[in-house]
Amino acid sequence: MNPDASTLALASIEFDLSAIEEGQSVTILWRGLPVFVRHRTQKEIDEAKAVPMSDLKDPATDEERTKPGHEQWLIMIANCTHLGCVPVGESGEYDGWFCPCHGSVYDTAGRIRKGPAPKNLVLPPYDFISDTLVQIG
Ligand code: FES
Repeated sequence: MNPDASTLALASIEFDLSAIEEGQSVTILWRGLPVFVRHRTQKEIDEAKAVPMSDLKDPATDEERTKPGHEQWLIMIANCTHLGCVPVGESGEYDGWFCPCHGSVYDTAGRIRKGPAPKNLVLPPYDFISDTLVQIG
């Protein structure tokens, strides 16, 4: 059975990034899920790249969590991988996200650094259509 056009339309969305300034983050909805879109600063990118893999509970490089040529953009499903709360952005000791439900701390690549969450924040499927337009899904 093939999905009809309205189902396909919901399966992917296009999002214009041009209004999100460096250092800002927004939360959008995709298939009923909240998704973080963060325009990282160079400092945040540098911090993420400097972390040794041996420090990570769920090892992943910054390059694996972003798209080549668009490393300033971090796009992730906004549910804590512990029990699904939505973490608070630009907070926590790694300048990433802090989940107040049970204290999980994520870094500026959305990788789990402390607390009970077992995994990094999940990346949705997405691609850049242009420098300012991204398709999620
Ligand atoms: S749901 Fe985030 S720490 Fe428990």
